[in-house]
Amino acid sequence: MLAEPHFTRHAGAWNMLTAAVCMALLGCLQAREPQGHVSVILLGATGDLARKYLWQGLFQLYLEEAGKGHSFRFHGTALTSTEQGQEVIAKVLESLSCPRDTAPGRCAELRAQFRQLSEYRRLKTPEDYLALSKDIEARVQHEGLREAGRIFYFSVPPFAYAEIARSINSSCRPGPGAWLRVVLEKPFGRDHRSAQQLATELGSFFQEEEMYRVDHYLGKQVVAQILPFRDQNRKALDGLWNRHHVERVEIIMKETVDAAGRTSFYEEYGVIGDVLQNHLTEILMLVAMELPLNLSSSEAVLGHKLQAFRALRGLQRGSAVVGQYQAYRGQVRRERQKPDSFHSLTPTFAGVLVHIDNLRWEGVPFILMSGKALDERVGYVRILFKDQAYCAQSEKRWVPAQSHCLPQQIIFYIGHGELGGPAVLVSRNLFRPSLPSASWKEVEGQPGLRLFGRPLSDYYAYSPVREQDAYSILISRIFHRRKDSFITMENLLASWVFWTPLLDSLAHEVPRLYPGGAENGHLLDFEFSGSHLSFSQPPLEQLVLGPDSTPMPSDFQVLRARYRDSPLISAWPEELIARLAGDIEAAAVQAVRRFGKFHLALSGGSSPVALFQQLATGHYGFPWAHTHLWLVDERCVPLWDPESNFQGLQAHLLQHVRVPYYNVHPMPVHRRQRLCAEEDQGAQAYAEEISTLVTNSSFDLVLLGMGTDGHTASLFPQSPVGLDGKQLVVLTTSPSSPHRRMSLSLPVINRAHKVAVLVMGRMKREIAMLVSRVGREPRKWPISGVLPDSGQLVWYMDYDAFLG
Ligand code: BG6
Repeated sequence: MLAEPHFTRHAGAWNMLTAAVCMALLGCLQAREPQGHVSVILLGATGDLARKYLWQGLFQLYLEEAGKGHSFRFHGTALTSTEQGQEVIAKVLESLSCPRDTAPGRCAELRAQFRQLSEYRRLKTPEDYLALSKDIEARVQHEGLREAGRIFYFSVPPFAYAEIARSINSSCRPGPGAWLRVVLEKPFGRDHRSAQQLATELGSFFQEEEMYRVDHYLGKQVVAQILPFRDQNRKALDGLWNRHHVERVEIIMKETVDAAGRTSFYEEYGVIGDVLQNHLTEILMLVAMELPLNLSSSEAVLGHKLQAFRALRGLQRGSAVVGQYQAYRGQVRRERQKPDSFHSLTPTFAGVLVHIDNLRWEGVPFILMSGKALDERVGYVRILFKDQAYCAQSEKRWVPAQSHCLPQQIIFYIGHGELGGPAVLVSRNLFRPSLPSASWKEVEGQPGLRLFGRPLSDYYAYSPVREQDAYSILISRIFHRRKDSFITMENLLASWVFWTPLLDSLAHEVPRLYPGGAENGHLLDFEFSGSHLSFSQPPLEQLVLGPDSTPMPSDFQVLRARYRDSPLISAWPEELIARLAGDIEAAAVQAVRRFGKFHLALSGGSSPVALFQQLATGHYGFPWAHTHLWLVDERCVPLWDPESNFQGLQAHLLQHVRVPYYNVHPMPVHRRQRLCAEEDQGAQAYAEEISTLVTNSSFDLVLLGMGTDGHTASLFPQSPVGLDGKQLVVLTTSPSSPHRRMSLSLPVINRAHKVAVLVMGRMKREIAMLVSRVGREPRKWPISGVLPDSGQLVWYMDYDAFLG
């Protein structure tokens, strides 16, 4: 016997509840479903999502709809054995919660009724589906009911979709006159091709109108309010919602949780596939699309959305910055049994700059950002308007509701964060918004609370009268056939068309490592110029942390260890170079502050090229005017020869920065039209120049590399030249061409205040291992002779060189 809820005893409370729910959901404005028996089949009923949200959503549906003449039955299904499944579900049903004002006794009653209507069954083979169908039919017949329809909720991984779809289609469709709705959870593919494939596959079993693709963000109250808000405030927004007035739009979802326990999923999708392609893109569309005249027309809404998709400017590699929290790789190794050498390039953080090339939005930056292991959990859309006013009045006389000089913004606060819940905020100096008063109330003041730079009192702020979970809202909408809250196939494919090229171009990109939580500091800040997005510079740092200096957050992006008893900094190449450039700049600033100048000796070769470029483009605070640039070594070729180290320095650094001409000291390898002739005394001349200009011949910083044979500067194994003695500069012979070289000697290198050795690439792995074990044997491995007399030595090795 099907139990119907016994509402009569609490009719008053129930009516009030129903009225509130109806208004909140606008459900009552929709055509009523013809009454009858509805079967809800929850596939994956024992899984995480089902336990956390879906059973609660079904309970809510029952509470809202059962009193209106429908009868229900809820079939929880999974592959788990009947006994185990029943146990799990019994527990879940026990913990279901009732609307806030329901008395505890009444709530227990309602739960018991719901429990009576719910069952668990194992659903695996096509025969199981057939049996389920027969059971439903028998029940309907036995009770003298009419079957209204069946809802199949797929809370299972997508690889299981096709098989289940086939079984439903062949054995479990309702008879004529009753509807079928299948509800699908993301991910819907990994890129455009796989999404298309999945769509085609599902399309062979179901009609498009039978499919409800869930993006649970569309069920979030504030997100669902974006279009209605734009509609109800057309008058105020008409002139404002465009490129002339909007400075930028930020669409943000920050999370503090990480991906532990989900790394198999995450490795496939990363943050872009998990969040940006769906949740943030849907929100972007709601903000950017043209507003249809009639919001209740799903076709019009979809049509306008697709139009906005078409106007999106294509993304390129430079449109995004990506990061990965430091513990992620270890989690993947553990969860997926990967070896210690395994590196993942999966981004757990992404910031993307989107442009929309249409008349309304041309030139307005839309920033989409999401990440795991960040410093706070919060989601919002912030529309910041241009500040086009100058206020002649003193700031203390500015009145929030009138001053044009205070920021003007509209914020759809999705949830969490400082505010702790959903809200719509409009700066008081913009306009007083209109929101449906039955479902939205003004937020009460919270003294001291500031949002986006302003006290809460600067905003008109509204929050939902009754907070509701996104899944409960969406389940109700499925029941009411509100297709506009779901993702159509065209919508889905349009989104993948937009994201796939970026995903392809990021496939080999090394994400910036971040420590996680508040430690991230400014590491993930980014900035844009034109269509290009890049991380803002990491903060300046000392070359080596003193014993009592506190580590900065950015210290955690790198592995700290020791190598040959000196500090070792190890990171991905991009991070390593950024770190080294920052350290050199810090050393330069410090030296100039103390001595008025900075003497920097640089090696040639390929490793420093990236460093030169970084210094040239990213370090505007570098005291170039007070910097002297010296060469650590040089090939005996004319200075204009492409093989000359000086040429490399010139091409990648000197021509981009303003170093006074007299501060640049190329090695005199080419004198009297001869190359490195002993009698021309080039080495002696360079040594004199050093002695004259560099106090005690102690460079402030010497940058070295390490060859695969253990050479450094142009000091090569098995040759004693330059390893000791008084000579500051020597002529040497390289085993590879060009053979003749000029080089700083080991003694002058070791006299430096700081020596940095940069070692990059897998090719250096073997020598790095070897040198880590040997003592001081400069004859065999000149690099092993580098040990500053009283200065500091720091090794900078990328992971390839250090870990192999
Ligand atoms: C899901 C993502 O879609 O959304 C998760 O797969 C993410 O990675 C979640 O944590 C966030 O949803 P909410 O509702 O907690 O903001």
